[in-house]
Amino acid sequence: MIPYHGHDILIKNAFLQGQGHVFDHWNTLSEEERRDLLEDLSTVDFELLNRLYRTAKGPGVYHGDFGPAPFIALPCHGGDAAEFEEARKAGEAHIREGRVAAFVVAGGQGTRLGYDGPKGAYGLGPVSGKSLFQIHAEKIVKYSKKYGVRIPLLIMTSPDNHDATVKFFQGRGNFGLDDRNLLVFPQSMIPSLDGDGKLILENRTRLFKNPDGHGGSLKALRTSGVLEELEERGIETISYFQVDNPLVKIIDPVFIGFHVLRDADVSNKGLEKTGPGEKMGVFVLFDNGRMGVVEYSDLPEGKAAETGPEGKLRFLMGSPAIHLFRRSFVEEITSGPSRGLPFHVARKKIKAWRGGEAGEIEGLKFEMFVFDALPLTAKSIILEMVREDEFAPVKNPDGVDSVESARRMMSELALKWLRERDIPVPPSVKLLEISPLLAVGPEDLGEVCVPNCEKAYLE
Ligand code: UD1
Repeated sequence: MIPYHGHDILIKNAFLQGQGHVFDHWNTLSEEERRDLLEDLSTVDFELLNRLYRTAKGPGVYHGDFGPAPFIALPCHGGDAAEFEEARKAGEAHIREGRVAAFVVAGGQGTRLGYDGPKGAYGLGPVSGKSLFQIHAEKIVKYSKKYGVRIPLLIMTSPDNHDATVKFFQGRGNFGLDDRNLLVFPQSMIPSLDGDGKLILENRTRLFKNPDGHGGSLKALRTSGVLEELEERGIETISYFQVDNPLVKIIDPVFIGFHVLRDADVSNKGLEKTGPGEKMGVFVLFDNGRMGVVEYSDLPEGKAAETGPEGKLRFLMGSPAIHLFRRSFVEEITSGPSRGLPFHVARKKIKAWRGGEAGEIEGLKFEMFVFDALPLTAKSIILEMVREDEFAPVKNPDGVDSVESARRMMSELALKWLRERDIPVPPSVKLLEISPLLAVGPEDLGEVCVPNCEKAYLE
């Protein structure tokens, strides 16, 4: 807490920055409320906000032209099977040596799913009802056993859901992970601005702030001290994924192997977009020779619909937001005041407290996107993956990318694994789920027997 009597400079500076309006109702505030407001204000980086407001009027993050990015194709699409096998071996060795940590960004709330809590706490398992967090944590327990090494799970929360997330894990025995290998830390918040570049009050004593985007995760790794701890533990590779994808292969030896063998700073999974309108960022090659992702909302419609010689989309490779980061690269890009990722601006409706009343205004929200780390290095690769094996994002309650579609895809993948292993599935079975503690791939399925019922859960 800042001492109340040291506030003169803070107040003066706010006026100098053109933000004196936040004191309009100063005379109506109690001593405690004044302290709260000043404390909130003391965290504001005015220089950054001024810069962001100026650039919000400019051309945005992307400069120059871009074409489609090159990628490593799957063997079924012409990739070299021997190279995949070599990568798998290299990846397995890297994992067994204890060089890999898993990192999930989970700052989001379940609001869009009609769920009041961290999105990761949403019960998704089609038969078991297990939460997304449990599904991910149990995968880590299984990978750790499989490779004979403790794999740390890092979880980035937001200040809005941090306590609830910690409580959720603690109340459930961390789903089998020991405390040392579960590192939970919050991302930062950044104030939003109104159309005139002014700070917005959320209530009498608080500024309106939003989480700084999943791109804030790289900075949060550093400021939380986790990056340093990873270095002490000998971790070299950070396997990054989003909390809303239950199918993600969190620890994928082939992907990790390519990352190591190609000496990449950032590696990315890519998959064919279903069509030009799919809400998915696309991989591009900027004209400076660096790779990047252009978000679907920033890709001009004409470009999104362009087709290549075989009639396929020209910007075909979409990003499911699955990345590997070299730890030392994260360290490099998050050090120094001028380094870091750019902010994107979005115009959104914001709840604002004005003239003593609560209302809604159109404001500017700023967020960093993690994929903007790609153009910061010449060493990055994209590995093609199979959608139905690894990607079932849960964005909506029903329809496309929904709870419904993710549950169906989980069940279909379970069936695919059983078929691959010639394990009979009774025709009565309509819904299947395999516990991650039993298998994280078909190769883990031993002598299992699928019960003769409508909803089968294998554990
Ligand atoms: C995102 C990607 C999109 C990608 C798609 C794949 C962006 C801008 N877009 O879309 O390119 O194809 O996922 O599913 O990222 N999160 C935080 N803190 C934040 C913001 C987000 O932790 O401040 C986390 C969320 O908890 C979630 C993930 O980041 O796990 C993605 O956020 P979301 O808002 O769902 O991104 P999308 O727009 O769906």
